This record gives sequence, structure tokens and C-alpha cells, in this order.
Amino acid sequence: MCGIVGYVGNKNAQDFLISGLKRLEYRGYDSAGIVTLNGKGRATLLKVKGKISGLETKVAKNKTTDKIGIGHTRWATHGEPSELNAHPHKSGKIYLVHNGIIENYKELKAKLKSSHKFVSETDTEVLVALVNHFYSDGKYPLSNAVVQALKLVHGTYGIAVVSELNPNEIVVARSGSPLVIGIGNNETLIASDASALVGHTKKAIYLNDGEVATVTADSIEIKTLNSQPVSAKVEAIQTDLSAIQKGGYDHFLLKEIMEQPSSLTETLRGRINREEHLVHLGGPKLSDEELKSIKHLIIVGCGTAYHAGVLASYYIEQFTPDISIEPVMASEYRYRHAHVPENSVALIVSQSGETADTLACLRDLKAQGVKTIGIINAIGSTIAREVDGGTYIHAGPEISVASTKAFTSQAVAMIMFGLTVAEAKGVKNSLLAPYIDEIANLPKAIEKLLKNAPESVKNLAKRYKKYDHAIFLGRDVAYPIALEGALKLKEISYIDANAYPAGELKHGPLALVDDRFFEFVFLPENNLYDKTVSGIQEVLARGGHVIVITDADDFSLPVESVVKITTKMKIFTPILMNLVAQLFAYYITVAKNYNVDQPRNLAKSVTVE
Ligand code: F6R
Repeated sequence: MCGIVGYVGNKNAQDFLISGLKRLEYRGYDSAGIVTLNGKGRATLLKVKGKISGLETKVAKNKTTDKIGIGHTRWATHGEPSELNAHPHKSGKIYLVHNGIIENYKELKAKLKSSHKFVSETDTEVLVALVNHFYSDGKYPLSNAVVQALKLVHGTYGIAVVSELNPNEIVVARSGSPLVIGIGNNETLIASDASALVGHTKKAIYLNDGEVATVTADSIEIKTLNSQPVSAKVEAIQTDLSAIQKGGYDHFLLKEIMEQPSSLTETLRGRINREEHLVHLGGPKLSDEELKSIKHLIIVGCGTAYHAGVLASYYIEQFTPDISIEPVMASEYRYRHAHVPENSVALIVSQSGETADTLACLRDLKAQGVKTIGIINAIGSTIAREVDGGTYIHAGPEISVASTKAFTSQAVAMIMFGLTVAEAKGVKNSLLAPYIDEIANLPKAIEKLLKNAPESVKNLAKRYKKYDHAIFLGRDVAYPIALEGALKLKEISYIDANAYPAGELKHGPLALVDDRFFEFVFLPENNLYDKTVSGIQEVLARGGHVIVITDADDFSLPVESVVKITTKMKIFTPILMNLVAQLFAYYITVAKNYNVDQPRNLAKSVTVE
């Protein structure tokens, strides 16, 4: 949600700021801006409404040789996407970029109105005016002014600030919104996401909440808001350049779908003992006794991460009979008065590790004494740092806004966690072995599917792109796949897609069936196969346009379209079916000529509530 970059060193600042913003564009892409300082009191502030490519053109016409600057790509919260609302914002000699939300901006604005002429609708302009108020035109150090201002602020922020009067330093701070400081050779780089630093440096400091840093080309000084010095830990950036490039694909989304055999292999690496049918996860840091005592599992996530949790819950309860499992949407759960039973453990699921609602639930649950286990992709992210233990899914950077490979890895990682609980509880190995075998074989099965499916799914997508509405249906383990398939389709193709358990049709959704809708049905050959088939028949009897995804050889109903999946998998076929839905959403979006990787109104990593 929004991206921040900053540069101070001996190279051209505009070059780094633009290349960094391009890397962060997936975090927000409705407007952007940069400011650079020439060291002699002149600032070059350039802003555009729209994409970084527009900013790049503007920069090309206003090239400077400045060696210090900050930049921002925005996902609008306060005020429409426009040049006026784009960051950096200015007050006096100060420029500031901000991720997050200042909740008390209205009352602060009222107090600052006499000293600052507000030109935007943003909460950020209030913050820069406040910093300028304490800066008093350079009478006090910039970092002091920033600290004074932040002490009055309620909300979340990651900020970078520069002043025309201190053209050698950038002040950065965070509370609830990530900030990374990259250490280079006679240069210091700032980013809200380490991917902007890849290729420039491998050494980084991740700022913690409540910390403020003053950086120059060759120094970094970190303090808490209470002026306590912080000795920062320098960490290695593990991502390499190829992981954040398209690698020959037209879109990141297709790359990430096609990457799943290898991303899932990374999730499984070193964690499965095929011979003895055992799963080993070191990260959760729970003893056998603690695993054995678990009675209740809460799975917390948003969007796709939540759907992965729902899917995992269906599986885990199949082989771990004595625990109850409750997948919850973080945005709802954080405001519920949920009773957390004794011996509960919470799985906190997040690709980015920064999602505001998920983070809030994590903090609440921890405060209640619940053990929290992260199922996280982004290494070093806020949630990964705050959980009691965790299992990284190691799926690699996910750049496309729609989450695909993370879903598969999250679901499997959670199922593996469930298997470790079952093992500790003494569930018979013969019951668990088929799950473990299939998980171990899943990357190969995915690889096979991805070799054969894309062409036929592409044709299918062309046929259905004319529809404005879709209903996704599935039962039991296929229901979470219906939820996820509908989310994927709606978020990138803008087709109004909803998901229902197939058994719910008669309770309402059947009324929707008409020529404006198509029905996308997941039909694994399992104990509920015949019941789902009955549901399909009811839709057909009402003239529905039905697409069926199935692994059943003898499926023969006269539906409009069938995608047959040939696989030896029995238990995890829904995961394969989900890949068909991912490809379907992708190809329909391409056929409609929409922006696949950056769908309208959305952004990756939802760090605001
Ligand atoms: C959908 C999607 C979102 C995310 C959700 C949670 O394709 O990407 O629904 O899954 O915002 O994000 P993380 O996993 O980063 O917490």
C-alpha cells in the first residue's frame, strides 16, 4: 500500500528513485512523485497522476544531477488520485513522503491552518506542516522536529523527510508501516520494501516501530521516539534480481502461476520425510507436549490468505479429530468479542506479513496469551517478527497484486502444521501417510497440470469473457477453492463473481441463474461427488451456462464446458483445480485487455485498515 524510496550518496538520485518506484509500483499506482535537492537551496519536485511511466517522462524533461531525494507511489486513502494529492508534500523547506494513515489529522489540521496553507486533501500534508512547525525554519535539527511531530500523531506511518536546509540527510521513521535502510558504498538507500534495494546492496536495516533514523551517505543514526539510541542489526537481503523480474513472461501473474511447482518445492524443502511419512517444521517452536495439548486452532488472514486458511481447516479436521478449527477474517475478528478457548493456538497467515488487520489480530491474540504461529512469505516482515514462532512459506516475491502461488504454499504449509499436530497427538501414521505422500507429489502434479492446461483454459476464457456475472460452486474441500476462484476472477477481470457451497444453491443463489451468468463448478471425485452433480443438474434444468472442472473420468452431464484434470492425486485435486481457476482469471483478463498485474483500485500489501 504505497511505496517509499529515498537516496543519499554520490550517484544520481533521480535514477534510483525512479527505478525504485518502478519496483514498488505494485504497492500503489494511482499517482507518484519525487523531490531531489541540489544542496544549494534548490529543490526539484515532480509529481504526476497515474503510473510511474508518466513520472519517468516528466523526470526526463527535468533532469537534475542532485544526489539526494525521496519519492513515493500512492494508493489513495485521503483524497482522490491527483497531482495535488500525490507525495512528496511540502511545508516551508521540508518535503515528506508517507505510507499509512494519520487518524487525528482533522484536529491537527485545524490547529495548523493559521501557519500553513493547505493545498491537498491528504492527511500527509498535515504531518509535513506539523514537522515544519517544530522545525522553525531550521532552528532545530530536522530529526528533533520529526520526533516532536510524531509524538502528537495517532495512526500508522512510514515516512521519509528531507529539508532544503539540510541537503545531506534524510530522516525516516516507522510505526506500523515498514521501512528498510539499505547500506551501500558511500550511499544510503531507503525503501518501504527491500525489493527496491535488490541489485544495489545486500545489507539492510529493518526499522522497528517507534524508531527514527537520520541517514547520510555514510552514516545511520537510529533512536527511539524517546531519544534512546538503538544499535541496529544489519541483515542480508536474500532476494535476487531474477525473482523480481518477469523472466520472459508477459505478466508477473502468469510467471507466478507457472512458478508453483518450484515455489511449492521450496515450501516443502527439508520439511517432509517421505520414507517414514513424517513432517518436520522447526519454525513454530512448539514442543511435542505443546502440540499435543492444542484443542483449538484459530486461523487468521485476509482475502486469499483467509481462503487458504479455510481450505487448510477442511483438511486438518479430517485427520486431527480432537481439535476444533476456526478460520477467521482478520478485519472481522479484530472487532469481535470472540471467546478464545483454553489451549488455543493461532496461525497468522499473510503473504506480505504487513496486512494491518492481520497484524492487529496477532497483537490482540498475543495479549490474550495465545501462542501465535506465522505462515508468512515476506522474510523479515512485521508479522514475521512479532509472532511467537512461524513457518516461512518461501514462495519467493509475489509481485502481481492478485495472490496465486502464495495461496498454494500457504494452504500446504498449514496442512503440514496440522500434520505435525496430528503426529504429536498420536494419530496413526497409516491415516496420515496418504496426505504426506500426496503433498510430496504435489509439485510434480502441478507441473503436469501447468504443461497441459493453459492452452485449453485460454480458449475457455475467450468464450466466457462476454459475461458480466459468474457463480463459483464447490462443496467441502472444493468450497474454499470456489471462494478463491471467484475472488481471483472478480479482482482482475472485474466480472462480478460470487462463490457458494453447491449445497446452498436451493437456499437462494439458484434464483440468479440466467443468460447473464455462467456457473464455474469444482467437482472433485470424492464422497460428495454425486451431491454436487445433483446441484449441477438443477442449474442445467434452469438453462445455466455451466463449466465443470473435474478429475472424474466418467463425468458425462451435458454442460457447456468441461476441463478434465488427469492426475493420480485423490486428496489434493482441489489445489490443482484452483490453478485452473487462476489461469482462467488470467486469460479472461488478458482477453479483455485489462491491466493484469495492477487491477484498478487495488494494491499489494494492505497496510492500512
Ligand atoms: C487477493 C489478494 C488479497 C490478499 C490479502 C491478504 O488476490 O491478494 O486478498 O490475499 O490482502 O494479503 P496478505 O497475504 O499479504 O496478508
